[in-house]
Amino acid sequence: MTRARQEQGDYGRESWERRWSQALGRGAHAVDRRPPNAHLLAEVADLRPGRALDAGAGHGAETLWLAGRGWRVTAVDFSTTALDHARSRAERAGADVAERVEWITTDLGTWAPPRDAYDLVACLYVHVAGSAPEMVRRLAAGVAPGGTLLLVGQPPVDPSTGAPTRAAGQRQVSVEDALAALDAERWTILVAEERPRGIGGGEVDAVIRARRVA
Ligand SMILES: C[S@@+](CC[C@H](N)C(=O)[O-])C[C@H]1O[C@@H](n2cnc3c(N)ncnc32)[C@H](O)[C@@H]1O
Repeated sequence: MTRARQEQGDYGRESWERRWSQALGRGAHAVDRRPPNAHLLAEVADLRPGRALDAGAGHGAETLWLAGRGWRVTAVDFSTTALDHARSRAERAGADVAERVEWITTDLGTWAPPRDAYDLVACLYVHVAGSAPEMVRRLAAGVAPGGTLLLVGQPPVDPSTGAPTRAAGQRQVSVEDALAALDAERWTILVAEERPRGIGGGEVDAVIRARRVA
């Protein structure tokens, strides 16, 4: 096994292609019924639409929600299966939504967004193969002055019960990773906490929302 493969563990590109093929094969309608992420809705609803990066866009629920609200979205994922599906959803949603989205198939383990380009950079539930603070810094460099960085990661172990979560075996961004990566002189941290994903408890996520000051 190569070193890169070992670092990716079971969460490299091929495994995500397989997951998306299986999920879509079981029923694209079920995938399409997944609502956009509750943390994104809560944290982004008050922002004026501008340019957004959805890093790890997957089936596209968040990309479509943003584009439907007037954002121009760059949707990035390394799964062509997921992005092809998301693109066809955008086309079905109408030309005004589809023309606001640019689709990029690439690996977030190495890809860097253009500097200072986005009013919102969102990265939700992406497994980090290398250093999480390094990935946060790389994605954060894409945020324009005054723009917002929104990171959501599920811990591998539920903090209240100690039970393994659906993210067991993965490393997703934590509050500590984000705080270690973001220079306090350049970022105002608006949210940095672990909180339930939905009303009524259930899964707990690390949510980090920061605004770039300079
Ligand atoms: C758990 S899904 C989350 C999808 C979406 N962000 C959401 O909140 O529903 C993780 C997504 O990240 C993508 N992904 C994981 N690692 C990646 C990487 N290194 N580069 C690009 N995409 C990656 C996967 O293909 C998958 O679509």
